[in-house]
Amino acid sequence: MSENAILTLENIKKSYFVEGHRIDVLRGVNLTMKAGERLSLTGKSGSGKSTLLNIMATLEKPDSGRLLIKGEDPAKFSDSRLSAFRNREIGIVFQFHHLLPEFTAVENAAIPLMLTCPKKESLEKAATMLERVGLSHRLNHKPAELSGGEQQRVAIARALVTEPSLLLMDEPTGNLDNETGKMIIALILSIAEERNLTTLFVTHNREFAAEMGRGIEINEGVVGDL
Ligand SMILES: Nc1ncnc2c1ncn2[C@@H]1O[C@H](COP(=O)(O)OP(=O)(O)OP(=O)(O)O)[C@@H](O)[C@H]1O
Ligand SMILES: [Mg+2]
Repeated sequence: MSENAILTLENIKKSYFVEGHRIDVLRGVNLTMKAGERLSLTGKSGSGKSTLLNIMATLEKPDSGRLLIKGEDPAKFSDSRLSAFRNREIGIVFQFHHLLPEFTAVENAAIPLMLTCPKKESLEKAATMLERVGLSHRLNHKPAELSGGEQQRVAIARALVTEPSLLLMDEPTGNLDNETGKMIIALILSIAEERNLTTLFVTHNREFAAEMGRGIEINEGVVGDL
């Protein structure tokens, strides 16, 4: 493993079985992400982008192969250690924000911290993160009272509030209009730069993919540079 690798995938394989049929989604994926590197991941629908992102996020397990994050092998962790590790090291943003409807923006953004920090401190840090994403005027709004772009900015604040080393995003702009999507990309890039954040961004949008430092594509179950 190279010295400053944040994430390494070695020969990752994953298949699904549906009604007796086997779908070989990942057929031996190798990848190294260096500290501060910004990657786009493209590939046609059903090619395995979300499957790969979920494996990197430790939300799904590969059938075989090895995943290392900051030199650690999460497959060796107990469930509770894995949850704590994921919470601290990995920020995840999905296409749909998954914010809790009953909670305000600042409460939603504070959730990952609440597990380990006192409530007051969690809310203060969440408010600072919301300020960074341009939402200091929306702290007490509930998700239904926010626009799509604002909701996604809360989701980004929530992903970053624990100061993870890795930010994984699965089509975070997929549900937004082009202008709002561009604004979200610019925001992510500026935060990634100021924090030396290692970032993987799954997108169908080639214009957005071109904004990242490096482009990779998944095709026939393997990953290659664009
Ligand atoms: N839990 C599952 N059970 C069975 N098959 C699955 C499961 N999850 C994904 N698949 C199949 O694996 C393949 C890859 O799915 P995946 O969601 O990773 O694709 P994707 O590249 O993210 O597609 P999209 O661009 O449409 O989001 C698809 O053929 C899908 O039907
Ligand atoms: Mg997907």
